[in-house]
Amino acid sequence: MEDLYGRKIDYMRISITDRCNLRCRYCMPNGIEWIPMDEILTYEEIETVCRVAVSVGINKFKITGGEPLVRKGCPELIGNIKRIPGVEQVTITTNGILLKEQLDRLILAGVDAVNVSLDTLDQEKFKQITGFDMLDQVEASIKSAVDKGLRVKINTVLQKDVNDEEWPGLMKLAKDHRLDVRFIEMMPIGYGKKSRMISNSDLLAQMQQLYPGMEPDEKRHGNGPAVYYKIPGFEGSIGFISAIHGKFCGSCNRIRMTSTGELKACLCYQDSDSLRDAVRKGDEDEVRRLLELTISKKPEMHCFETVDSVTESRQMVKIGG
Ligand code: GTP
Ligand code: 5AD
Ligand code: SF4
Repeated sequence: MEDLYGRKIDYMRISITDRCNLRCRYCMPNGIEWIPMDEILTYEEIETVCRVAVSVGINKFKITGGEPLVRKGCPELIGNIKRIPGVEQVTITTNGILLKEQLDRLILAGVDAVNVSLDTLDQEKFKQITGFDMLDQVEASIKSAVDKGLRVKINTVLQKDVNDEEWPGLMKLAKDHRLDVRFIEMMPIGYGKKSRMISNSDLLAQMQQLYPGMEPDEKRHGNGPAVYYKIPGFEGSIGFISAIHGKFCGSCNRIRMTSTGELKACLCYQDSDSLRDAVRKGDEDEVRRLLELTISKKPEMHCFETVDSVTESRQMVKIGG
């Protein structure tokens, strides 16, 4: 289905849990209150939503959290979504802690690609950013996923005075391995602070000084807003998700659903419509109407450049990025 601005909406991001096994400070500090389980959609309900979403033209799904792999049976959910006629791709965004142990089940389910969040290669800093000493697990998961032939992208959020000097090492992962490394500008959502944000255009300029051969990569790497560059001698590409400065809203293709069934037209949009009652009543026509309503409510562009904070603090972990 097209929205009011002629954009084709064919990608849906689904958060399946607000829980996480890390506590990245910009996302989910300690002491957060969990959403009660009975408010969270069951896998059957999520699958029903996906089936109806296909009927309004959505054919790519991204599974997110919180951390999606902490919810039992996530690989099997992915398999069930993949089997819905009309579904082309199901991908997942994870922090990588449980990825290695669930990799075979994910591959068996037919997952099409995996994005792993990783902000540092320094053990102490990893602990400082995420609250846990678990860098080794994440690195082992990434290696295992690449070795098993999965398409892997690393998501890195650089923060001023925290990990802003880490980009050369993180970039090198794309030199040595067949994976892409993407740098995301920190968004003022939840606990994310624009004052800590590193501008991707400044970062690109620094990278091009180090690698003068770095040039735009026109190849399609996924369904999100990243733009990519390639560097001679690198196995993978370097991506930029310029959430604050990038004018990518013109090609926006997505809607989002939280784990409780709130539909969101844009990351930046406070308003949402819940389809939980409709799906629990088995009213698929109403679910379809709500999906269409959400698509029709998509704003022309986000507002991150002009505001300091767009949502209450729990939102990023609920929306799933
Ligand atoms: P693929 O490239 O297909 O894997 O999709 P993706 O980049 O959308 O996936 P991922 O879940 O890894 O998201 C990476 C980052 O992009 C997250 O921080 C998201 O919050 C951000 N992002 C994704 N979609 C949007 C969007 O519509 N607007 C903004 N501002 N950020 C987005
Ligand atoms: N700004 C930018 N990216 C964020 N993420 C979480 N919170 C923010 C924020 N405020 C990133 C995570 C993960 C991805 C899904 O979203 O680091 O890589
Ligand atoms: Fe968990 Fe991802 Fe949030 Fe970190 S950014 S606390 S890994 S949901």
